[in-house]
Amino acid sequence: MRHTLVLSAAALTATLLMAPATQAADLALGKKLYSENCVKCHGAEKYSRPDRKVHSMSTLKTYVQGCATNLSLSWFEDEVDAVAAYMNKEFYKFK
Ligand code: HEC
Repeated sequence: MRHTLVLSAAALTATLLMAPATQAADLALGKKLYSENCVKCHGAEKYSRPDRKVHSMSTLKTYVQGCATNLSLSWFEDEVDAVAAYMNKEFYKFK
């Protein structure tokens, strides 16, 4: 019994270490970062207004980075990517 537990713990650790950065993990991280930092000033109305600024994934990343910088958040590129991916899924829906 004890032996089995040790083995499965090792297998779990190996899975976690080897797991590639999956889309699902990025979206979960993006959602968390977004809801903790980004909902004070604007919401969906900003992203769907007729004169919105963002019209592609690359401008979306630029704005995510820009607002994060304004807020003095020093996000790594993968955090910016995660928030952009989350916002795209929820609001912009670029292909
Ligand atoms: C202190 C207020 C404030 C906070 C907090 C804030 N933003 Fe912004 N954000 C703005 C303002 C103001 C604009 C509009 C800029 C413009 O019209 O050029 C904007 C625009 C944007 C846009 C472009 C909207 C569009 O399509 O026109 C994106 C994307 C965005 N913010 C992402 C974020 C993210 C991600 C965060 C969290 C890191 C965040 N914002 C937090 C003030 C804020």
